[in-house]
Amino acid sequence: MIPSLVLLLCALIGVVRPVISAAQDTRPSGEQVYRKHCASCHDAGTSQAPTRAALQTLSATRILRTLDFGVMMAIAYPMRRAEREAVATLLGTRGQGGAPPSGARCRADRPIMAAASKGTWSGWSATPSNTRFQSTDQAGLTAAAVGRLELKWAYGFEGDITAFAAPTVVDGTLFVGSAGGVVQALDAATGCLHWVFQANGPVRSAIVIHEIGPERFLVFGDQVGWFYALDARSGRRRWARRVEAHEATRLTGSPVVHDGVVLVPAASWEETRAIDPNYPCCTFRGSVTALDIRNGSTDRRDPSRHRYLRALWCPRLVDADDRRRPRPGLPHHRRQLLASGHPHQ
Ligand code: HEC
Repeated sequence: MIPSLVLLLCALIGVVRPVISAAQDTRPSGEQVYRKHCASCHDAGTSQAPTRAALQTLSATRILRTLDFGVMMAIAYPMRRAEREAVATLLGTRGQGGAPPSGARCRADRPIMAAASKGTWSGWSATPSNTRFQSTDQAGLTAAAVGRLELKWAYGFEGDITAFAAPTVVDGTLFVGSAGGVVQALDAATGCLHWVFQANGPVRSAIVIHEIGPERFLVFGDQVGWFYALDARSGRRRWARRVEAHEATRLTGSPVVHDGVVLVPAASWEETRAIDPNYPCCTFRGSVTALDIRNGSTDRRDPSRHRYLRALWCPRLVDADDRRRPRPGLPHHRRQLLASGHPHQ
């Protein structure tokens, strides 16, 4: 595309964005959303769809999960975040649903991350080069042994209809997210549960573990745009924040941590909103945000450590042509972040 035309488009987007944000801020009525998007099936009494009264026995959290990542996902595609929340709150009961049964918990003699194990796999790839290759020694099995593996244990994600998150394994503990937004720490040998953490949305991104002194951080994003750092031993939240203001943001990509800086790639669901013919397409831009792992800040006092890169689609936002200053990222020896982009992945 001709550069001046791209700049013109970016300038236009800058002009229309405030108007669109204002429209997104108006709170929809749950009843109106129900009538527009749900009543045709759930009030009909003829199809396979449960009645409205049956939906009212489910928790709002469960209904929201069904819209976000369950059987109603395709129907909910054009619905904005606020509309999903409004209809789930209208129909559903309060509360989160049941806690895991106490029998699922690990006994005191199986402490978290206590196994001496070479087999570490953190994030999307076992090594920073992103090849997803692991040597026989590290994996603890040969290629020939793969065909002879047997099931040791299985764990069900309560209420979910899909399991889609990549597991991270460190020192005998497995960390994995789920469609219900529950992140769990499981014993890799027995499948017993150390802790669970409830995120605001489905967690698909591969979880990354990072050590600073005696502390171990877990970092990951969710499908409604929140990014989290937990204490890996207790599962307690250290901090959580949004890296993009756009209501359709989703964080699917695995983060990368380098030198105490977390690089967070952001994508969106905006193409699904465009099924609605009245949707004023398109306002989301892909981005990579650099955060301090200790507190989630985008502190830019030291610009060589904390850079905010807005890289995809809009050339005026690319801040990557100053070769004198190192940029955070990988591979280590080059200190470059390699990112590829598609508007919605
Ligand atoms: C085109 C028809 C149709 C529309 C429109 C529709 N649904 Fe459904 N819904 C169904 C059917 C059919 C099922 C049963 C699916 C099954 O059991 O596999 C269902 C099941 C559900 C369930 C139960 C899921 C579960 O996990 O048991 C919830 C909750 C739900 N719908 C909410 C909604 C909401 C909220 C809306 C509006 C935003 C909506 N549906 C719009 C057809 C529809």
